Amino acid sequence: MKLWKSALASLGLLLLVLFLAACNGGNDKASDDSGNTDTETTDENTEDEKVTIVYARGVDTTGANEKLVAAFEEAHPNIDVEFREMPADTGQQHDQYVTAFSAQSSEIDVFDADVIWPAEFAQANYALELDRFIKADGINMEDYFPGTVAAGKFNGKQWAMPKFTDAGMLYYRTDIVDTPPKTWDELIEQAKSLDGEAGTQFGYLMQASQYEGLVCNAIEFIASYGGQIINENNEVVANSPETVKAIKKMQEIVNSDFVPDNILNFMETETETAWIEGQSVFARNWPYMQASSNDEERSKVVGNVGITTLPAGDAGSAATLGGWMTMINRYSEHPEAAWEFVKFMTGPEGQKITATEGGSAPTLKALYEDTEIQEASPLFANPEFVKVLEAAVPRPVTPIYPKISDILQIELSSALTGDQTAEEAAANIQTKIEEAMSE
Ligand code: GLC
Repeated sequence: MKLWKSALASLGLLLLVLFLAACNGGNDKASDDSGNTDTETTDENTEDEKVTIVYARGVDTTGANEKLVAAFEEAHPNIDVEFREMPADTGQQHDQYVTAFSAQSSEIDVFDADVIWPAEFAQANYALELDRFIKADGINMEDYFPGTVAAGKFNGKQWAMPKFTDAGMLYYRTDIVDTPPKTWDELIEQAKSLDGEAGTQFGYLMQASQYEGLVCNAIEFIASYGGQIINENNEVVANSPETVKAIKKMQEIVNSDFVPDNILNFMETETETAWIEGQSVFARNWPYMQASSNDEERSKVVGNVGITTLPAGDAGSAATLGGWMTMINRYSEHPEAAWEFVKFMTGPEGQKITATEGGSAPTLKALYEDTEIQEASPLFANPEFVKVLEAAVPRPVTPIYPKISDILQIELSSALTGDQTAEEAAANIQTKIEEAMSE
């Protein structure tokens, strides 16, 4: 009797399963017949099912990233973002992405890309082209600073959306410095004479380690003395008296008594740590350091930090154009959800969080008129800052940028360690980049 009952129950269950399956199949058929396209079916699925996308970016010392992800997830309950932290050094990050994407890994869906990567990643077929998403969502690329859009363009297509922009700035201690220096020579003078005041141990901090940040610092010196590495006509013009003078100025600073003994190991993180500990009178860094400078929990210099343009050489003041974009892995299995996240991060709401919580400069021009952004930082409220961003010197947009950067890193570094003269460095940069470009 009992057996009978359970056999009947099982049969019932089986019939129910078959019935439900038939209904489902019928539905699918019906929608196919009604002419639904593949994309519509995918969209329906995205709405119903919860999707998890993996988002990778470098170390965030500000806490902005967590808030950004939380705000996105709240607005998109069907998309979860799993965060993957990458190294702080942009070069190391780059190499990890290259390893993953060249193996066609789909593990990472969305990633932040340094402005120097999109051309290379587009050429290598690592990235998803974004024009169809941009068009479908009616995004006007003219709302962004042109330099940041250009960094994400290659072969006439948009591969990356601008998330925030960067330009090198001079940080100074308002409790020590009366008038910030206007020229590199004034900086050297003040750094020497003020080093030691208010418990400081150093006059100046910069990024002199052999990595991408050194290239950024060097471009600022070189441009401020009127030099260039590659000109508008794509000619290598590095071997000039201007470049030599600039490298000599860097040598003078790096070999001075007012920088840390291990300045040749300094990247942004070392700069930031020493700066918020109150160890230095001046520092060169990107805008994000304003967030940690004013963080009551971490910083000993809250309220004592001023930010201004970098000192000038013979040709004026120059800042390197930095910044980060977001891109989608070509092999992502969730391109629609990935795009939603990219759109959010690089749209007004996302950029506002990056600016107010992370201290980084928006790429959307209109945000500089936004009162919350202006209140978050005097830098963002200052029209001069927007001019610095617009005038910032870009690094070459080319798929062989990593090669060019390697040459600069090696040659500059050996000039700073004293293994070669400034003249030799300029000459080597010239011939080696020429060689790389003709390969
Ligand atoms: C910053 C800039 C980036 C640059 C890097 C160098 O992150 O935004 O463009 O390459 O610093 O360290």
